[in-house]
Amino acid sequence: MPRQRPEAVGTEPTSTAPAPCRVVVCRDCCCGTPKVTGVDHDRQLARLTGEVPVRVSDCLDVCEHANVIVVQPSAAARATGARPVWLGLVNDPDATEDIARWVQAGGPGVAPCPDILDLYVFTPPGRSR
Ligand code: FES
Repeated sequence: MPRQRPEAVGTEPTSTAPAPCRVVVCRDCCCGTPKVTGVDHDRQLARLTGEVPVRVSDCLDVCEHANVIVVQPSAAARATGARPVWLGLVNDPDATEDIARWVQAGGPGVAPCPDILDLYVFTPPGRSR
């Protein structure tokens, strides 16, 4: 079965309410493992969980960027042009905290991405920004 890319998550019919901002946290062969040293992976996931819906994903095929987190816009923001933001090398608790605050504020298309997160943004292969 092919892996589901984060872009497809917001299309799942889970309720009649508009889809909020969501976070995909990669946890598979590299992200969330001892291969990425110096990170409390459980704490990172716990910090993001509860702010907005969080889905743990299988490998997103960009392991060189582990730990990878994708912030998906709300349905309303997506309708105005907001797109998922891929963040890589999220291996610092301060970056996790910045992501948590950003998604709490509404995420892509609603709240400005904190400037510091520009250091973590990347474009996955096959996509344009
Ligand atoms: S395990 Fe996260 S990109 Fe491969």
